[in-house]
Amino acid sequence: MDDPRTPSTGAEPGDGDLVSWTTGVAAAGYEDRDMSIALQIAYPLVLRELGIVPHGPAVAGMLLDLGCGTGVLAELAAAAGVPVLAVDPSEHMLHRARRDRPHPLITYRRFDGERLTFVADGSVAAAAVCLVCCTVPDTAVLTALARELHRVLRPGGRLAVLELSPAGVGVRFSTLRFGDPGRSYENGELLPTFLRLHNGDVLRTACYFRSERFYRMLLAGAGFTDHMVRFPLVDQAAPHPGAALSRAWGAETTVAPYMILSARR
Ligand SMILES: C[S@@+](CC[C@H](N)C(=O)[O-])C[C@H]1O[C@@H](n2cnc3c(N)ncnc32)[C@H](O)[C@@H]1O
Repeated sequence: MDDPRTPSTGAEPGDGDLVSWTTGVAAAGYEDRDMSIALQIAYPLVLRELGIVPHGPAVAGMLLDLGCGTGVLAELAAAAGVPVLAVDPSEHMLHRARRDRPHPLITYRRFDGERLTFVADGSVAAAAVCLVCCTVPDTAVLTALARELHRVLRPGGRLAVLELSPAGVGVRFSTLRFGDPGRSYENGELLPTFLRLHNGDVLRTACYFRSERFYRMLLAGAGFTDHMVRFPLVDQAAPHPGAALSRAWGAETTVAPYMILSARR
């Protein structure tokens, strides 16, 4: 098994070994991944960027979770009292989300991956897009999604985009690795991605590299303003409440695995 923490053997898998995100295998593996880093620094910060904090005043209106996967962020937002429309093109992901993370405040819905035809203009208070863009090979699809997000958000509504940090390419984080060490990647280039599962196996998936500048331009091109980008590190001294606390952290204490872009409609 490939271990994100061990040095590369040089025998990197070819594209054919990478699991497609639309498959049941990807959904099952993704559900079973070690989310320690994401729970520590990614999802809580995404929610904070959107003004959603535990026991805080609820965001007035609905959160759109675009590409909700197995529903982790949607569940956290609902637990904070926020109604969530959680959409994804994968029926396999939605099946697990509905089964494992049902909540009266969450509506899970399938969509075609490009158009939110069932969401009215300006009807959404905030939107989150977590680790979705990196799974989409086609830049035209990202452009269409960014325009849709701008359309459905109400004026002043906030968008948060969680993505793989370009600085983290090739770094062996304790639960994941994306890209080969020492290689640089062009925008849109395949980024082999390895996610550690709880049983010790590794889910090998296909992601696609994109730079911080690419994302800033994507959001600006769709009409978003007030862009900010954060590169959070795991802080051993100040663990996020509720996150996995007792574990040996690795490179994520010195290199950011994720970046969080936020912007305003
Ligand atoms: C890496 S998972 C992230 C899931 C979830 N947001 C999370 O943070 O756990 C990527 C998700 O993006 C979804 N996806 C793929 N293409 C998409 C598209 N065009 N629009 C929205 N979601 C898409 C996949 O089905 C998958 O559920």
